[in-house]
Amino acid sequence: MEAAVEVADLVVSRGGKEVLHGLSATVSQSSVTGLLGPSGGGKTTLMRCLVGVQIVTGGSVRVLGEPAGSVALRKRVGYVTQSPSVYADLTVRENARYFSSVLGAGDTTADQVIVDVGLKEQSAQLVSTLSGGQRARASLACALLGEPELLILDEPTVGLDPVLREELWEMFAALAAAGTTIVVSSHVMDEAGRCDRILLLREGNLVADDTPDALRRAAGTEDLDQMFLTLIRQRAEVA
Ligand SMILES: Nc1ncnc2c1ncn2[C@@H]1O[C@H](COP(=O)(O)OP(=O)(O)O)[C@@H](O)[C@H]1O
Ligand SMILES: [Mg+2]
Repeated sequence: MEAAVEVADLVVSRGGKEVLHGLSATVSQSSVTGLLGPSGGGKTTLMRCLVGVQIVTGGSVRVLGEPAGSVALRKRVGYVTQSPSVYADLTVRENARYFSSVLGAGDTTADQVIVDVGLKEQSAQLVSTLSGGQRARASLACALLGEPELLILDEPTVGLDPVLREELWEMFAALAAAGTTIVVSSHVMDEAGRCDRILLLREGNLVADDTPDALRRAAGTEDLDQMFLTLIRQRAEVA
């Protein structure tokens, strides 16, 4: 099966500084891939490259068989940015229906995605009155509208309580099982175990690219925080 994402020798500079230093990775279809690693490591920058909104200095990014950012990908790729991308002065339903009309998806679809993310009770509530987690789910609902084949989610679980985080990860797994490819970032290492595959980014370099189990074995620890530290140290010794 063709990879959903193919990144080769990707170099990106931001603010006059190189922030991705020749990254290569692939993401397989119908899977949940976690972009993990500390803040400033390049997770958001890499996601922007996948969406095609980031100027790249070198290398190539192919998404669903097309160059990233192609017009043909507009409906096939969903992106939820780190800060909520819904309108605060509209209700949840108004937001969903607005984005739905832009995509030509219709009101029924809009109402369905609200149910899917568990916001049925809040559908008549203004986004400005939602909790952080509810707002994150409202953004997610809007990203689901076009039934994107690739869903790119930048730290969707930040600030959520453990129950909601668990629910979201279950939803990602269900979407992947139904055929959606999900790339999701987090700086919380204990979320890594929920991914089919982990790309560990640090200071613009790929420190690891493997399954959570293989990474645990390589680092000789079950603890994901410890695993990350061990892999960083191993890497530093090799360099
Ligand atoms: N708008 C920007 N201008 C200049 N540098 C930036 C900008 N956004 C991010 N950076 C830099 O790019 C690097 C990677 O940042 P980012 O991709 O946001 O990392 P992460 O999402 O992993 O926290 C950091 O060194 C950050 O300071
Ligand atoms: Mg980020």
